[in-house]
Amino acid sequence: MENLNLTSMESKRAATESVLNGVKNLPLIPKVMFEVARFLQNPEANTTGLAKLISKDQGLTTKILSIANSPLFGLQRKVFSLEFAIIVLGYKEISDVVTAISLADSLKVSSDKDFDQNDFWIHSMVVGTASKSIAHNLGYMDLGSDAFVAGTLHEFGIQLLHRIFHPQFLEICAMAEKGEAVFFEAEQEKFGLSHQEIGKFLGEKWNLPEVLCNILSYHHFPSKSPGNKILASIVHLADYMTQELQVANCYWDKGMQLDKEIINILQLKSEENLKNFIMDFKELFIDTASSIRL
Ligand SMILES: [Fe+2]
Ligand SMILES: [Fe+2]
Repeated sequence: MENLNLTSMESKRAATESVLNGVKNLPLIPKVMFEVARFLQNPEANTTGLAKLISKDQGLTTKILSIANSPLFGLQRKVFSLEFAIIVLGYKEISDVVTAISLADSLKVSSDKDFDQNDFWIHSMVVGTASKSIAHNLGYMDLGSDAFVAGTLHEFGIQLLHRIFHPQFLEICAMAEKGEAVFFEAEQEKFGLSHQEIGKFLGEKWNLPEVLCNILSYHHFPSKSPGNKILASIVHLADYMTQELQVANCYWDKGMQLDKEIINILQLKSEENLKNFIMDFKELFIDTASSIRL
C-alpha cells in the first residue's frame, strides 16, 4: 500500500514537472536588474546616475522607499529620496533591494477570491524585512541583505501555482478551506510536490544564485537544507512568526509547523527562549505591516 502511494506521488510529481518544463510564458527577469548590475560594473558609477536609472520606474522607487523606511528594515534614519537611500545602504544592498522588489513585482498576479495579491505582497515584504532584522538581531550581520532577498521571495512558488495551475490551485484552496488538509499537504496531494520545489524550478530557470534556490526549496524544513542552514532557518523563523503573531499572515502558511531544529541552528537555547524572542518582535511586525505601501 505504501509503495502504491509512493508510486502515485511520483507519477503526480513527474506530471507536474513535465507541465512546468513545457510552460512557454514564464515571467521574465525584470530589465532593471540587468541595468543596475551593468551600471555598477562601470568604475565611474555614481549615486546620482544610479538613482536616475532606478527612478525611471516610479512604482519601484516608491516601493523601495517604503520598505527601506519600514521599522523592521532597521535603518537608523528615514530616507526620503532614492539618492539618500543609496548613500545609506551602499551599492551592494540597494542592488539586492532592487532585485528582491522587482522580482517580487514581476510575479504579481491579479487578485481573485482565493488569492489576495495585496495580502501576498505584505506577507512577502514583512518576511523579507523580518528576516533581515532577525539576522542582525542574532549577530549574523553579513547575512542581512541575503536574508532580505530570500525572505521577500520565499513564496515564489505560490504565485507560480496560481499562474500556471489555476484550476488545481482553486481545488487546493477548497481542500484547505474545508479543513481536509493544510495548504502544504494539499499541494503534495495534488502535485506530488509543494510550492517549495516549484519556486526552486523558477529560481533555476532564472539562474538565481544557488543560495537563494536553496532557501526557496527548504523554507519549511530548513534543517534539511544541504547548505545555508542558518539563512534558511532565519527565513523559516520569520515566516513562522507571521503565523505565531498573526500579523501579515497568509492562509497558505496556516498550520505551518516550526522546524524545531532551528533552535540549535540559530543558538536560541530553548523553546521558551524562542517564544520570548518571537514576542519581542510583535510591535515591529505590526508597525511594518501597516507601513508598507503596495
Ligand atoms: Fe511557503
Ligand atoms: Fe510564507
